[in-house]
Amino acid sequence: MAGSGKTVVVGVTGGIAAYKTCELVRALVKGGHRVKVVMTEAATRFVSPLTFRTLSAEPVTVSMWADAPEATVHHVSLAEEADVMVIAPCTANVLAKLACGRADDMLTTTALATEAPLVIAPAMNVHMWRKDATRRNVSAMRGRGVAIVEPERGELACGDVGEGRLASVECILASVESELARVRDLVGRRILVTAGGTHEPIDPVRYIGNRSSGKTGFAIAEEAARRGARVFLVTGPTHLPDPFGCEVVRVTTALQMRAAVLARADAADAIVMSAAVADFRPAIAASDKIKKSQAPENIRLEPNPDILAELGQRRGTAVLVGFAAETSSVEANARAKLDAKGCDLIVANDVSDPSIGFGTDENSVLFVSREGTERSGVVSKRHIARLIVDRLSGFMSG
Ligand code: CTP
Repeated sequence: MAGSGKTVVVGVTGGIAAYKTCELVRALVKGGHRVKVVMTEAATRFVSPLTFRTLSAEPVTVSMWADAPEATVHHVSLAEEADVMVIAPCTANVLAKLACGRADDMLTTTALATEAPLVIAPAMNVHMWRKDATRRNVSAMRGRGVAIVEPERGELACGDVGEGRLASVECILASVESELARVRDLVGRRILVTAGGTHEPIDPVRYIGNRSSGKTGFAIAEEAARRGARVFLVTGPTHLPDPFGCEVVRVTTALQMRAAVLARADAADAIVMSAAVADFRPAIAASDKIKKSQAPENIRLEPNPDILAELGQRRGTAVLVGFAAETSSVEANARAKLDAKGCDLIVANDVSDPSIGFGTDENSVLFVSREGTERSGVVSKRHIARLIVDRLSGFMSG
């Protein structure tokens, strides 16, 4: 097989799943990549460096000192050679070191020194995976743009059952290939994304809200930023951390979201309204908490402005993408919204299916534009984000 010309540095840490990394190295070599393996001392207890050396046909590095070729600063040269670095399996300990920037062996030093994209596939005991300390380390790495290949659920080597098992070789490989293939097609573009649901206050402690988690909008913002765009993310209340590389504005109500969007709309090359903006708000928000004994019989609602429709009316050259959450006649309703709100694309989903959509990690959507209708199939929200950004890019260059 012809070489890809790409160098993949594979970091192996000391976990039982290290034996699966042999398969990963084989698959990468088969894919035409040059593979350089770097191991921690602990990893060599599970798999011999000779195994990786034989599979990769390249020297394997363990120590900072013993194998350094003369006249090169080896940890820096490996870091510079990498087109992508993947750490699989990554133990809780190495993840913690990476999260705080420690570099006390060849593997962590290379990871800190490299400018190449980093893919981390953690594997550990379920309780270690769920610990707050580990959760924070994962989010810290994700926040710095590292691709995390989440471990799978299943029977673990220690006998426990739960999440913590190294992701499949196919999943890790797909993430490595996606980092290698990442296009920078949005450099110089400004993209405005909205996400999450809005909260409409009834009184200082109660509000009318909806079930939007914000995951799709955050994933779109991050994907666009990774592809080089300058991204403004205006989001309603959500527990999600700021996505990598975006300027984030956090708002609460639909009126605040409208103001934040309109202030940035004219400068945007594309606007993606993925937020679940509340259609109505209580006409009066009580300034004091309403006492149980004074429960109102009714809460009078008044309509919120439709931000998307407003953008559609005053539209300049920005590509406009709207969302539609429907429970029936999904395609017909989405097509009606495309025209009514003056959009280039409507991303429609069927919210009547509880296994996908709100709060879950997967979804299935229809892309409805004047060119026709396409289906995504059931895929992760991250993948949907990629498909949406692909289409945005197409509209902007078309
Ligand atoms: N939207 C908006 N401002 C609102 C309500 C919705 O900008 N006040 C945007 C959403 O961000 C989404 C799109 O409009 O991109 C679709 O909203 P949806 O709630 O599905 O439809 P509606 O227009 O509210 O119509 P209906 O409830 O009748 O389906």
